[in-house]
Amino acid sequence: MSQILRSSSPADTRALGQKLGAVLKPGDLVCLQGDLGAGKTTFTQGVAAGWGSIDEVSSPTFVLVNIYRREKDRNHLHHLDTYRIESAAEADELDLDSMLTQGPALVEWPERITESLPADRLWVTLAHENETHRYITLQAFGRRAEELLKALA
Ligand SMILES: Nc1ncnc2c1ncn2[C@@H]1O[C@H](COP(=O)(O)OP(=O)(O)O)[C@@H](O)[C@H]1O
Ligand SMILES: [Mg+2]
Repeated sequence: MSQILRSSSPADTRALGQKLGAVLKPGDLVCLQGDLGAGKTTFTQGVAAGWGSIDEVSSPTFVLVNIYRREKDRNHLHHLDTYRIESAAEADELDLDSMLTQGPALVEWPERITESLPADRLWVTLAHENETHRYITLQAFGRRAEELLKALA
């Protein structure tokens, strides 16, 4: 199950993320694939807003993981950037499974840690069309990811 959308601005990309963020639950994994500048972090800003984050989204490139909180409950939204991960062992050390017990997780550069990812995942690919436009492909792997995709339609 998949869907291709076209975003014509950062606000557009954020709005899509926001819609997704509003329906995310603990255990949900969102993978964000795309070149540098494609909009992964911009999309994440929307997701965090929709989820209700009280913390500002920043690029976790140097820290690997950012953790966002919300007022509603004690859940945590984890935002990972695995660009610097170099081995499967390092990827496993992240312990994504325990992060997912605390809330949803977003992973930038997921293709670097595919073996460590849970099977059920919503795979979002962002691609440059031009300066202001992006193609956003949403692919659902697994039953929960399909539910998420339906909620977005
Ligand atoms: N339609 C669009 N969607 C998302 N970002 C866009 C779009 N058009 C232009 N941009 C710009 O592209 C850049 C995307 O950066 P960022 O979200 O940090 O990308 P990534 O995390 O994939 O490296 C931002 O400067 C943003 O303003
Ligand atoms: Mg980024």
